[in-house]
Amino acid sequence: MFKKMLSVAAATAALLAFQPAAPARAADSVEVLHWWTSGGEAAGLAVLKKTLADQGVEWKDAPVAGGGGSGAMTTLKARMTAGNPPTASQMLGYAILDWAEAGALADLTPIAVANHWDSAIPKAIQKFATYEGKWIAAPVNVHSTNWIWVSKAAMDKVGLPAPTDWDSLIKVMDKAKSLGIIPLAQGGQAWQEATMFDSVVLTTGGADLYKKAMIDLDEGALKSPAMHTAFERMAKLRTYVDPNFPGRDWNLATSMVIKGEALLQVMGDWAKGEFINAKKEPGKDFLCFRFPGTQGVVTFNADQFVFFKHGSAPLDAGATKMATDIETASFQSAFNVIKGSAPARTDVPDTAFDACGKKAMADLKDAVAKNTLLGSSAQGYGVPPAIQNAMYDVITKLFNGQLTVDQAFAEFPKAIAAAK
Ligand code: BGC
Repeated sequence: MFKKMLSVAAATAALLAFQPAAPARAADSVEVLHWWTSGGEAAGLAVLKKTLADQGVEWKDAPVAGGGGSGAMTTLKARMTAGNPPTASQMLGYAILDWAEAGALADLTPIAVANHWDSAIPKAIQKFATYEGKWIAAPVNVHSTNWIWVSKAAMDKVGLPAPTDWDSLIKVMDKAKSLGIIPLAQGGQAWQEATMFDSVVLTTGGADLYKKAMIDLDEGALKSPAMHTAFERMAKLRTYVDPNFPGRDWNLATSMVIKGEALLQVMGDWAKGEFINAKKEPGKDFLCFRFPGTQGVVTFNADQFVFFKHGSAPLDAGATKMATDIETASFQSAFNVIKGSAPARTDVPDTAFDACGKKAMADLKDAVAKNTLLGSSAQGYGVPPAIQNAMYDVITKLFNGQLTVDQAFAEFPKAIAAAK
């Protein structure tokens, strides 16, 4: 945290020093940094662009691909250091708090108060959208990561009941393999492997182990036999991927499931955006299940937009419209139906959502009530970025055969301790 903070703080200090030279921006335009570059993501973003265009706000696109946003955050730091901040940036969890602490984020409190964000947005999300009592981010959605996305055609061929725990998951994947179907569509990038690891820990040791090990970083939990099992299970999952997985983008893995070449993908519900974009229907073409054995718990990441301070100037008209629009119930519904996520506001009706969307919203409500809404560590909501990256490193090395299970198990707590 401290190491990461230094660079965020340094970038902010550089920005403030550069401020007088920062380029003047037209009042009614927004330049937005984000990582929504897949077909489904672009379709979601189009809703925001149109909402703004309808009010005369010009959109300047600054895309940097890569789930979890590490690539986008590297670009952001460089731009801040160069004194060239965008109007707004997509951001997740602890990164938001880092930039808030560094003093770079505009205060959205007047907009939030006028539009009752406080009563509509779950407290677990507010924890990452407010800083020292002020709103510093506008949550767009609540994604959850403990899902599997299943090809209906491939599942029909497999002919087994839907998996509900680890053993039945293995059974369906073994059967798919025996039929010549790729059991697991996987993109070989560290953030994707880490996103799957969240679910593997959760199914192995329940919410208790996930929280203790992956959020609280409790040493006893990190060194427990259950974590060893979680690493064994990751190694087992590696045996179900096809040889072309290294480097593959997540949406290409989704496309393997869409085409029925692969049985399933473990991914956040942005994957549903790809199915919808390909005109596929839940129940008919694809199925959505909670990662087997994680029912009742939701690991979340919420996309948020932060707006950067430009000297002492108040938030300009374009930025004000964008922050306001994001939190309207009509935008939250229209956007999230396409994006695959649940609305960040809990007062949005589920009428327009498909079966998977309705399930996401019901699960979210249930998890809030039962206190089983837990931040995804792979997606920046469990731990600060430096620790998240340390986790990525060990998980990806294991998945790519550079570490054995025993080595990864031993290395994980050490890498976390070194990143603190
Ligand atoms: C974001 C999603 C995005 C996904 C893949 C995640 O970090 O929260 O909105 O669709 O990355 O790009």
